[in-house]
Amino acid sequence: MRVLVTGGAGYIGSHTVLQLLQEGLQVSVIDNFSNSSPESLRRVVGIAGQNLDAYQIDLLDTSRLTQAVCEIKPDAVIHFAGLKAVGESVSQPLKYYKNNVVGTLNLLEAMDEAECRTIVFSSSATVYGDSTDLPLRENTPRNATNPYGRTKLHIEEMLEELAASDSRWRIANLRYFNPVGAHESGLIGEDPQGIPNNLMPFVAQVAIGKRTEVQVFGGDYSTADGTGVRDYIHVLDLAAGHLAALDYLSNAQGVHVWNLGSGAGSSVLEVIDAFARISGRSVPYQITDRRPGDVAESYAHPEKARLDLGWKAERGLEQMVEDMWRWQSKNPDGFPEVAMEFLHQDELALFISGNQKLPSTD
Ligand code: WQD
Repeated sequence: MRVLVTGGAGYIGSHTVLQLLQEGLQVSVIDNFSNSSPESLRRVVGIAGQNLDAYQIDLLDTSRLTQAVCEIKPDAVIHFAGLKAVGESVSQPLKYYKNNVVGTLNLLEAMDEAECRTIVFSSSATVYGDSTDLPLRENTPRNATNPYGRTKLHIEEMLEELAASDSRWRIANLRYFNPVGAHESGLIGEDPQGIPNNLMPFVAQVAIGKRTEVQVFGGDYSTADGTGVRDYIHVLDLAAGHLAALDYLSNAQGVHVWNLGSGAGSSVLEVIDAFARISGRSVPYQITDRRPGDVAESYAHPEKARLDLGWKAERGLEQMVEDMWRWQSKNPDGFPEVAMEFLHQDELALFISGNQKLPSTD
């Protein structure tokens, strides 16, 4: 079975590509490398001992995208490619609508042309907006509160209408909560560009000494310690949820929705404490004003994924922090720049051989 993974060089994408390869599936990746590095794919290939082929293509380049999808002829697509910074989406909404919504539209049309109508979509709990109806269930009303979240909501609606128009489509909308952690080798992990928007990578960079202190956005929420509570989920558990959804779709048509969360909430201060304890480093912090748009609490009701997919989050906060710390301390500056020596503009494919030397994991 061949799976096309868009955004496969990214944080969640690379961890999912690794599990697909380890399951013996054939993988092709399309990524524009705007927020990721081919190095992550090189390391994934090294860990898995299996090759893949990758194409440097932007989803807005319709002709090259269609050519590649028709050449790859995937049996299914896992679609991660998209912009995901909430703050940036507020200042540049059109960039987000174009990249995320139009990019997905181009992908769906290319899939239709290639006779591939099975897709697992990377949605987000952000579609629930500022709902206080906790724990969040898949039938909790959606009401995105920022352009990023609205792109995810519009794509979900586009997929629902596509499935209603053509029963051949098999669609899974996976609503992630807060993905964190890294593969246990410490070879791949989250490599945010610039100042991390999200808590865990920021805390990791303070622990490693790249940043001076954590700004805790608000200490007066109606939570146990006054700081924001979120449902953190290990990226390896999240990746496994994609394989479970893919398996489910092999026997199910139409559109299906699952929350991928642990069901447990952790506060900002609990995350900081865990990081300081596990890394052995001090993690100074200062409680500042709330961040506009933040909710006090958000966590999943994980029952539906457990019943339908036989999937649940296995790894707790300690493991998430341990694995995040190992990645961060081994790669203080993230992935190194790599020469795209195999990439020739007139060729579509960037072939990454599995026999290249990997950094040591000891
Ligand atoms: C977590 C908690 C902050 C940074 C977002 C997107 C969501 C998904 C995950 C893409 C909150 C607090 C954070 C900091 C802090 N992204 N915080 N200081 O906002 O729950 O979700 O990222 O799919 O769609 O909405 O994640 O990590 O930004 O914040 O105090 O420097 O940490 O207030 O309580 P969030 P986050």
